Amino acid sequence: DETKTGVKGLVDAGVAKIPTIFVHQQHKLEVKSHSGKSQISVPVIDLEGVYKDANLHAQIIEKVRDSSEKWGFFQLVNHGIPDRVLKQMIDGVRKFNEQDSEVKKKFYSRDYAKKKVLFNSNFDLFQAPAANWRDTFACVMAPHPPAQEEMPAVCRETLIEFSKQIMKLGCTVFELLSEALGLDINHLKDIGCAEGLLLLCNYYPTCPEPELTMGSSSHSDSDFLTILLQDQIGGLQVLHDNQWVDVTPTPGALVVNIGDLLQLISNDKLKSVHHRALVKNVGPRISVACFFRAQNDSSECIKTLRTHQGVVIRGKPSNLQGNHCQRFSCLLPLQRSGWSPFT
Ligand code: SIN
Ligand code: FE2
Repeated sequence: DETKTGVKGLVDAGVAKIPTIFVHQQHKLEVKSHSGKSQISVPVIDLEGVYKDANLHAQIIEKVRDSSEKWGFFQLVNHGIPDRVLKQMIDGVRKFNEQDSEVKKKFYSRDYAKKKVLFNSNFDLFQAPAANWRDTFACVMAPHPPAQEEMPAVCRETLIEFSKQIMKLGCTVFELLSEALGLDINHLKDIGCAEGLLLLCNYYPTCPEPELTMGSSSHSDSDFLTILLQDQIGGLQVLHDNQWVDVTPTPGALVVNIGDLLQLISNDKLKSVHHRALVKNVGPRISVACFFRAQNDSSECIKTLRTHQGVVIRGKPSNLQGNHCQRFSCLLPLQRSGWSPFT
């Protein structure tokens, strides 16, 4: 069953042409670039000394605000996570995918509601118009991580160490964003933006026909915030001014992007921007997307808002359910701070 051995299984079998299910419509693959504008790039923010110097701190907050409003994306350098931990994580994902497929098959599932640790190709394989050239290992690391023996033996310690560090950095980014919004430094953490952490570890095998398919179709992230670790191959692009701009791999850097829920609760001040990942005929490319989200505590708050406050919440239906839900109370302080989160 090829859905169980993944896209890597196809490549290992030596396919020279990609199966039709992976062929995307041509207009979705288009480049959409404006001539003369190719010099622009995603802002890079240096966190060195962020809590040591008040002037520097203010400058960093300003960059975070500006990038989150204009791009919805920025890259972080000198963020405090050692290169060793990043490299180990990339290697861990490689090891997981390159181990015996009998071991991988044990993790195969599409049931995100029941499983904390799972492996599949294309979570939306049976819904999406075309499949992506990607295998994904998923692990819910917070609020309740899986038992150690549920995690893959090849990357258990790595997952734990990396998640610990990413959670700490995520909290720092939420502090900076809170300040950027003119709120109390702890505000976004306090309303639960960093309660939940989901890691999606992507493995994009080398592709024989990269111009026909995609690693990740254009989408925005449904969580509050995403921190992405990518290797040096490249392929991630962000839609900026109706143009696809490469998020160029920068050694040691982590990519941060605003999710739909942060756009929602900031009344569209911070932008959740479409992005995609192209594939190449070199690889594999590895990335780890770390999604910060609320604890899975039902969507009652959203329903309350809708029915009792007459509020219209824009956004994808997936934001209004389950994990992707924010509490009613979290909206109130933003309302008090001067701009209504409601439209
Ligand atoms: C994604 O946003 O779905 C993946 C991004 C990447 O792999 O670079
Ligand atoms: Fe994404």
